[in-house]
Amino acid sequence: MKELFLLDPDVVFLNHGSFGACPRPVFETYQRWQRDLEREPVDFIARRLPGLLEEARIALGDFVGADADDLTFVQNAGTGVNIAARAIGLDAGDEVLATDLEYGACNFAWEHVCARADARYVRAPLDELFDHVTERTRVLFVSHITSETGLLLPVERLVARGRELGLVTVVDGAHAPAHAPLDVRALGADFYAGNCHKWLCAPKGAGFLYVNPDLQERVDGAIVSWGYADGGGTFISRTEEQGTRDSAAYLSVPAAIDFVREHDDPARCIELAREARRELCALTAQEPIAPESMVLRMASFRVPDAEEVQRQLWAQHRIEIPAMRPDLLRISVAMYTEREDVDRLLSALARQLDAEHAEQHQ
Ligand SMILES: Cc1ncc(COP(=O)(O)O)c(C=O)c1O
Repeated sequence: MKELFLLDPDVVFLNHGSFGACPRPVFETYQRWQRDLEREPVDFIARRLPGLLEEARIALGDFVGADADDLTFVQNAGTGVNIAARAIGLDAGDEVLATDLEYGACNFAWEHVCARADARYVRAPLDELFDHVTERTRVLFVSHITSETGLLLPVERLVARGRELGLVTVVDGAHAPAHAPLDVRALGADFYAGNCHKWLCAPKGAGFLYVNPDLQERVDGAIVSWGYADGGGTFISRTEEQGTRDSAAYLSVPAAIDFVREHDDPARCIELAREARRELCALTAQEPIAPESMVLRMASFRVPDAEEVQRQLWAQHRIEIPAMRPDLLRISVAMYTEREDVDRLLSALARQLDAEHAEQHQ
């Protein structure tokens, strides 16, 4: 499986979560689209592209459980969350309620949009989230799988409760497609932003935003362009026609879906991630941060001085693993991750912890 990916074989790559990794055949498809574009740019962009994008949206909609007309390609999940936040039309005094586990860049987006509207962005622990609903709460924002802590949140329950309370529900699904079971239609959120370049292994710059049909009229593209012709255009035209750009990453999504369908083994990845977490917690003598049921293919675990440990794992062992907080490392188990990669982390980490221990006792 490793040979199907373009990753450097000299690196123990345990950070699929940050930016994903694209397999060779999908990357070749991506480059084929780029060559097609350069061969006849006018024919490609003016005549073929709308139909090609529609075909790609149909394949993606089939994969994530949404009608192709209710989702639009965006460069990344962060763009999707921004578009959603701006579409809601917050009023002064409104509140946006989120967990305290949300992704940093999305927190900035909400804080920015709230500040402009004189609204408030309220963050609360998951187990007391709905205690923070007030009569001013308009929006619920939750991750499907969290970034720093790598946890699967009970997003179905959270969205259902949000809807009962009459809130606009926005889900950050940056990590979810091809990672967790996903049926956007059944989930029933108003906005669902996802990435295809993480676990679906599409080339970088392939994300999507689903929008409930009732709210699509309010949604703007990142820029106003030709998609606003004909009396303001449609949700798809406004978000899809964004001037001259390279859409090859979007067009490669069907190839990524085919690749994942053919090669992915979710049960193996989840089992290995959970096993790794148990062994890493035992090695570091730290308690797990959450129940095992919340762990799928990413596991964050406590390590004192994680940032220094991360630097040493890279410098001395060429192990790529992110420090998500000063006390947390996060391992990702992707299609190409093997038991041996986990063993290399365990032995390098054991040596690193021993060295730190010896230093402290000198
Ligand atoms: C939970 C979460 N949301 C949003 C993002 C943003 O993704 P992107 O940089 O592709 O916009 C990430 C990226 O890691 C993430 O983990």
